[in-house]
Amino acid sequence: MKESHIPVLANEWLSFLPEDSLKIYVDGTLGAGGHALCVLENHPEIERFIGIDQDTNALEIAKEKIIKWSDKVTFVHRNFSEINQVLEELGIEKVDGILLDLGVSSMQLDVGERGFSFQQTGPLDMRMNRENELSAEIIVNTWSEEELGRIFRDYGEEWQWRRAARKLVQERSQRKIVTTKDLVEVLSPVLKSRKVGIHPVTKVFQALRICVNSELEVLQQVLPQAINCLNPRGVLGVITFHSLEDRIVKNFFRHEASNKQDTSGLSGLFLEKPSTVTLLNKKPITATDEEIELNPRSRSAKLRVVEKK
Ligand SMILES: C[S@@+](CC[C@H](N)C(=O)[O-])C[C@H]1O[C@@H](n2cnc3c(N)ncnc32)[C@H](O)[C@@H]1O
Repeated sequence: MKESHIPVLANEWLSFLPEDSLKIYVDGTLGAGGHALCVLENHPEIERFIGIDQDTNALEIAKEKIIKWSDKVTFVHRNFSEINQVLEELGIEKVDGILLDLGVSSMQLDVGERGFSFQQTGPLDMRMNRENELSAEIIVNTWSEEELGRIFRDYGEEWQWRRAARKLVQERSQRKIVTTKDLVEVLSPVLKSRKVGIHPVTKVFQALRICVNSELEVLQQVLPQAINCLNPRGVLGVITFHSLEDRIVKNFFRHEASNKQDTSGLSGLFLEKPSTVTLLNKKPITATDEEIELNPRSRSAKLRVVEKK
């Protein structure tokens, strides 16, 4: 296995799976099939394994990786935000385990042509699903300065969002910005990095990618559906790679685990509601030093797991 394809927090995720009642399992972010392989190898009792990815390349690679189990695997080219519909179409009502390992894969980052990485030259694309229309090139060349500023601030948490947006709008009045290299050349001279070793355009690239793929919106859409389609004692695990994603998952899981309705504004009153899940870890699980050394991408990973009541 190539080092960059090592699944993140795989042993930790395996430790949360029920011993022998895992019959139907969904991997919502199949990627290179790394987690899928671990789960299938460790849980021969699985009868149906549904592997979803919105990237057809990922599905092809995963198919090879888990070919040994192809009899029980259904590969699905969809957004995980359509999980309810996918299961309905397959005639499946409830499942016993779901994993979402968010973001882009190292495979996607490593291929310059996909446009995800400032370290590779390629078109400003960044679409995980290449059937979608919106690309980073469209955003960078046509969105207003205000809209660009908003996404750099909200999706990149970039403190120099105003400066980055202004510079882009100035520059594109002279020439179209079409490659990752163009974008790096335009922004590098005007942005500063607060952390040694972090490239100044890192956050702008993150913001564009999140925006192109509506990453925060689809995460918000999938979480309630995922809880809803779990059997009692079924588990949902989510691996996040930045604080915007982790905050959404943390708040949603806390809300589902609580039996109190959010009553902000009702001065002290609270309403009861059913608690639907148990938090299996109060604090997110992070990678060990050994894993980080083997796979630096795991440094920012956080795993949160809930069990359906
Ligand atoms: C971090 S990688 C997953 C790696 C995988 N767990 C493995 O071990 O090889 C994320 C994958 O999820 C896919 N993905 C991200 N968001 C998605 C979404 N909303 N719907 C479907 N697939 C998504 C990406 O295309 C990518 O292949």
